[in-house]
Amino acid sequence: MFLQFSASLADSFTYLVPHAVDSFQIYRPDLGNIEHHRWDIFVPQLGYTCGVYWGPFNTFTREFHLIPGLSLLFFAMDIFKSRSDPPSTAVSHIQQPPRRRRIIVALTGATGSILGVKTLIALRQLNVETHLVISKWAEATIKYETDYTIPNIRALADHVYNIHDMAAPIASGSFRVDGMIIVPCSVKTLASISSGICDDLISRAADVILKERRRLVLAVRETPLSSIHLRNMTTVTEAGAIIFPPVPAYYIKPSSIDDLVDHSVGRMLDLFDLDTEAFERWGGFKKD
Ligand SMILES: Cc1cc2nc3c(=O)[nH]c(=O)nc-3n(C[C@H](O)[C@H](O)[C@H](O)COP(=O)(O)O)c2cc1C
Repeated sequence: MFLQFSASLADSFTYLVPHAVDSFQIYRPDLGNIEHHRWDIFVPQLGYTCGVYWGPFNTFTREFHLIPGLSLLFFAMDIFKSRSDPPSTAVSHIQQPPRRRRIIVALTGATGSILGVKTLIALRQLNVETHLVISKWAEATIKYETDYTIPNIRALADHVYNIHDMAAPIASGSFRVDGMIIVPCSVKTLASISSGICDDLISRAADVILKERRRLVLAVRETPLSSIHLRNMTTVTEAGAIIFPPVPAYYIKPSSIDDLVDHSVGRMLDLFDLDTEAFERWGGFKKD
């Protein structure tokens, strides 16, 4: 709001106007139009309020004021109003609430699809926002190896993309994510990433993660390994990825496959600084 006043009224209005408008203009014959923000007036008013009045004369500021008693009232009103004012969106340095961690999860056609499913479940329990892509051969191994259906698995994620959707947000570096995990990761997908062939959404998203210098974990599952596999693993490691072959840790003395899976999932998510708290960490040899 913007107002203009004549010089003769300005002195009295300095008490009244600041409480009604955010900025206004006072005409001074010596200075012309002067724009004020209400706080320009409010701050000297503190001086008036703290000063000692002798009639209309303020002994602190050595000025005459027509309505000195009102300054205290307006001072109180301004404090009350500033407390109830909504925060201004124009101020750029206001801290945004932290967003949920965001991780891309890709399942490919290597054996061990349960690792991908349990990873999605763990991320859901950790309140991480997940962006899921499932390859055609992952769907086949999921059906063959587990009792989960594809709709069940899709329902575990916050966002699901078709592997051919190259226009998905995760295909761009401008979409902010905290990292990506491919679990399980076939040697075919490893080779695509290693050679930079972005011919599906999984290899494209992984390529983006590497170029943006974000966390990429590949749970590559194959055995034994050829020199081609090993070279590809070296190449992606040099580009910043982490190879996490889901090899069992026998020292945990697993009593079920679930124990092994939980351990691998927990150790993979450690790489994103996420603690599933679903496995026992090594604390030295136990005395029986
Ligand atoms: C039952 C089954 C198990 C497989 N296991 C592996 C495996 O452990 N590692 C691997 O690299 N490929 C494995 N494959 C082969 C991949 O599915 C195949 O190379 C496929 O093209 C991978 O494509 P994707 O990476 O787009 O999912 C397996 C295939 C089937 C049907």
